[in-house]
Amino acid sequence: MKIGILTSGGDCPGLNAVIRGAVLKGIKVHNQEFVGFLDGWRGVVDGDIIDLPRTSVRGISKQGGTILGTSRTNPFEGPNGGPEKIKATMDRLGVDAIIAIGGEGTLAAAQRLTDAGLNIVGVPKTVDNDLDATDYTFGFDTAVQIATEAIDRLRTTGESHHRCMVAEVMGRHVGWIALHSGMAAGAHAILIPENPQSLDQIAEWVTQARDRGRAPLVVVAEGFVTTDMESPHSERGLDAFGRPRLGGIGELLAPEIEARTGIETRATVLGHIQRGGVPTAYDRVLATRLGMAAIDSVIDGLWGTMVALHGTDIVHVGFEKALDNLKTVPRHRYDEASILFG
Ligand code: F6P
Repeated sequence: MKIGILTSGGDCPGLNAVIRGAVLKGIKVHNQEFVGFLDGWRGVVDGDIIDLPRTSVRGISKQGGTILGTSRTNPFEGPNGGPEKIKATMDRLGVDAIIAIGGEGTLAAAQRLTDAGLNIVGVPKTVDNDLDATDYTFGFDTAVQIATEAIDRLRTTGESHHRCMVAEVMGRHVGWIALHSGMAAGAHAILIPENPQSLDQIAEWVTQARDRGRAPLVVVAEGFVTTDMESPHSERGLDAFGRPRLGGIGELLAPEIEARTGIETRATVLGHIQRGGVPTAYDRVLATRLGMAAIDSVIDGLWGTMVALHGTDIVHVGFEKALDNLKTVPRHRYDEASILFG
């Protein structure tokens, strides 16, 4: 078989380790041939591929980003999009099956294409850790590590100036990065989309910390809403899948906190720093294992499934299980963390 690999959607540390795991096991154990589609679904739609021999994946598991490039291209759009055209392109290239490495948008597209008869298996990827049916996604651990280091730095400058520091982290509509980095850094308030808070409550936590002589530290997820907001702050339009591009809530909160508490407040958006650079050892191992399991899915013809982490085991689950619901932060995890707020 000739197997095409693609990485699609927002990049994250660990993508190259998946590619390496799939290619090495595919060649060594199953004697398969690999190509890479360039820039996610764009490469599938345009038939833009490179060969992926064993030498092409040498030493790449520690590299951030993706050697294949990525994009948020929707494979159902454009003159060459849609299942029939893509099938014809795959036939022309001699590609028998696709391993799609991506998040919710990528896997939803993969599910539709599989339903239309294409041979696709998935590998879940997102720094947001918001995909159901897998306990963790690779990239999340690295994002939390990077965010924690950055927040630790904000704390020392905040302490020097006796300021309140607000750190905005990614996560789209879930608060996993905020919860984990906020707990790790000892934040005085962690604000996540799953648990709207009033400005008065946030100000109270900030004031309590200041009254104990601390420089208050607030970690806010980009998708957080106050009890007065109807939807997350978004002023950057929609992405290719029609989802609002989030960001900027930290800058909105900072003046409100300052006005209510009298404490000089600064906001920092960590942004794409959370997605760049080398993956942690945990993410490299998880990504490698998922890549190796994905090639087994192809050999077994498990089209329409993705590999997933259950506890410490890698399992195969249907796309629909991952896509039915967002994996949000459960209430008990937030309540546990909030004991330490203020
Ligand atoms: O889904 C991953 C993610 O990093 C989100 O946390 C964030 O909202 C979004 O992607 C940013 O997308 P882009 O890289 O297209 O700006």
